[in-house]
Amino acid sequence: MKVFVTGVNGYIGAVLAPYLAERGMSVVGLDAGYYRDGWLFSDNRRMPVQPFTINKDLRDITVADLEGCDAVAHLAELSNDPLGQNNPQVTYQINHKGSVALAEAARQAQIRRFVYTSSCSVYGAGTREFLDETAGLNPQTTYAECKVLVERDVGRMAGGDFCPVFLRNATAYGPSPRMRFDIVINDLSAMAYTTKRIAMTSDGSPWRPVVHVDDICEAIYRSLIAPASAVGGRIFNVGQNSENYRVRELAQMVAAEFPGCELSVGASGADNRSYRVNFDRIHRELPGFACRYTARDGARQLRDLFERIQMSPDTYQFRAFTRLRQLKYLQATKQIDADFRWH
Ligand SMILES: NC(=O)c1ccc[n+]([C@@H]2O[C@H](COP(=O)([O-])OP(=O)(O)OC[C@H]3O[C@@H](n4cnc5c(N)ncnc54)[C@H](O)[C@@H]3O)[C@@H](O)[C@H]2O)c1
Repeated sequence: MKVFVTGVNGYIGAVLAPYLAERGMSVVGLDAGYYRDGWLFSDNRRMPVQPFTINKDLRDITVADLEGCDAVAHLAELSNDPLGQNNPQVTYQINHKGSVALAEAARQAQIRRFVYTSSCSVYGAGTREFLDETAGLNPQTTYAECKVLVERDVGRMAGGDFCPVFLRNATAYGPSPRMRFDIVINDLSAMAYTTKRIAMTSDGSPWRPVVHVDDICEAIYRSLIAPASAVGGRIFNVGQNSENYRVRELAQMVAAEFPGCELSVGASGADNRSYRVNFDRIHRELPGFACRYTARDGARQLRDLFERIQMSPDTYQFRAFTRLRQLKYLQATKQIDADFRWH
């Protein structure tokens, strides 16, 4: 199977490409390359060859780009809430319009399988229930709203000749060469390693489901190979029930994995995004899928990695590992314009 992976130079994409290659698939990538300045570590045994990658904006995709591919795994978007809030208009253009146009191009290219990386952030705020895929949606940000719109619009295309699958991922963690330190466990772990201190400004009370980046890759892989009857037009939360934590608990867990790390918790609760998620469906109905990792495993892997590469505070703070900081830098230095197009 030849898989067209958009966002292949991103945090998940850089793990997904070797993951699929190791399972006998070939990968064609597409990426605008916003974060290519950042490469945290090399594991050449895992990726003997970088996938052929089209250096192009999702908004310019044509049917010809997709020729010869059998499936699409679509990851290329502005990938978190602060990015979306920074420029809502561009976020709609890329995340909503760009994703729907990609699905239309895929359909025209007679590609049937289309796996979309949605997010548990569509559930939004303010409930104590464990939300499953039938729960009402309450997106709090442009980023989350776009996920809802793509699910709706691409969901309408599902039929005999087109089989989209929607993966609502929990917040990811774990090592990737294209590291992100703007997601909670990676951030806490890097803070613990480089400063020996986790100082939380908030009280850490919001709930956050988390999932290992390799388990997201497994969900994408299983969605690519599953029979259309099992996955066509379907939504799956990606994670496991035991991996819903309060942010405070994650901080405690990370601090425990980094010897000598002090932890202090703040008073306020500024962040109103809080949700607990039920992950029964994916384990029951996506053939072959199971999560392999816990948050504690992830923190331990990150500690081993940081020790191996002797990660410095400067590396932790490097702009390309924090998505918003890198985009602001590219704009301030006039490398990309107000629409996030390269000059
Ligand atoms: N990481 C998480 O915790 C998480 C959780 C849920 C969902 N997701 C979703 O998974 C996908 C991948 O996330 P990630 O963490 O790897 O993000 P990332 O920001 O590391 O990677 C996204 C990649 O897409 C590329 N990209 C962005 N806009 C583009 C455009 N207009 N044209 C071409 N390429 C473009 C970027 O250059 C980047 O390499 C995203 O859709 C994200 O919303 C991620």
